[in-house]
Amino acid sequence: MDTHSFTVAIDGPAASGKGTISKAVAAHFGFAHLDTGLLYRAVGRRVLEGVDPLAAAQALTAEELAQGDLRTGEIAQAASKVAVIPEVRAALVDFQRAFARRAGGAVLDGRDIGTVICPRAEVKLFVTASAEVRAERRYLELSSKGADVTRDQVLADVRERDARDAGRSAAPMKPAEDAVMVDTTDLSIDAALDLAKSIINKKLAAQN
Ligand code: DC
Repeated sequence: MDTHSFTVAIDGPAASGKGTISKAVAAHFGFAHLDTGLLYRAVGRRVLEGVDPLAAAQALTAEELAQGDLRTGEIAQAASKVAVIPEVRAALVDFQRAFARRAGGAVLDGRDIGTVICPRAEVKLFVTASAEVRAERRYLELSSKGADVTRDQVLADVRERDARDAGRSAAPMKPAEDAVMVDTTDLSIDAALDLAKSIINKKLAAQN
């Protein structure tokens, strides 16, 4: 198997299942995994602390991605806001592209991986689900961590973030033309994962 450089781009909205699928795909194939949302979340957290967004993006370190809990609702909204700024996005491109090209294969998940960061990725998936199903998943995740949220709040947050992420002019969230659509509204994450694995296996086999 030649996995010298093999990139799997997995895009989609919040709580679509793309994170779970990406992690499992990476573990299965032995690829490295980068959750690119963490980059925007780390910048968003710095902005909540009073730092200028561009300065935060330019100074971002890999260590920051592993510090503390970046998966809070407040940081998610802050991340979505900094992600609108073209200069912030530009400051994060090189890190993501270098990660994508590392030897042994890489999975990157986000919003613009198949369209902007890795337009030549070997495999592109766009994982989606209805806003209601995604909000329910996110609600269960946040409340299991003890967050004081209601289902309605989480649904409103998901919708607000979807609209901002898809409506911005810099690298909006959208499926690449050659992405395979995976709708997890009625498909279990396991079934979606099987689909992802078979698409990747076919591509790997075609390369050899
Ligand atoms: O995937 P996530 O929920 O952790 O992402 C948080 C925010 O970061 C998301 O609302 C928009 C932004 N983001 C982005 O603009 N581009 C990416 N590749 C990943 C995330």
